[in-house]
Amino acid sequence: MFSILVLHGPNLNLLGKREPGIYGSLTLDDINRLLEKEAATLGVNISFLQSNHEGALVDAIHAASTLHQGIVINAGAYTHTSVAIRDAIAAVSLPAVEVHLSNIYRREEFRHHSHIAPVVIGQISGFGSDSYLLGLRALVNHLTQLKSVNK
Ligand code: DQA
Repeated sequence: MFSILVLHGPNLNLLGKREPGIYGSLTLDDINRLLEKEAATLGVNISFLQSNHEGALVDAIHAASTLHQGIVINAGAYTHTSVAIRDAIAAVSLPAVEVHLSNIYRREEFRHHSHIAPVVIGQISGFGSDSYLLGLRALVNHLTQLKSVNK
């Protein structure tokens, strides 16, 4: 059974209260519950971590390499600033999917660049909580395909 780590970056602990016009009314717990349901449907294990600290996210990515087969990451604002998170993903070479609740390309210009995008399988942006669910599905499909190729 695949094990997937979902990483939530800074300020995502405030979902539900934080700019609901942009990020919606679901809390982070609501999103995690939806992900748990989806994981059960897909037959995978799922774990969650939210942190407002860049180093904690880097540590979690390092630890994931021995505990999980893939990562779904919403790095929040670190998407646009963090070479350290990008390097951590590249270093562990675990398949990762980048997700965003909002469509980062429809927003301020500083959100249009992602340091994470070049080191992930793909990015899903703009579908609210569905971005996470679609990201999880895409990651599990990817892992399943890899497994059948390596058989
Ligand atoms: C976000 C988009 C980022 O630009 C922003 O800093 C966030 C959330 C999203 O999910 O839409 O914190 O990653």
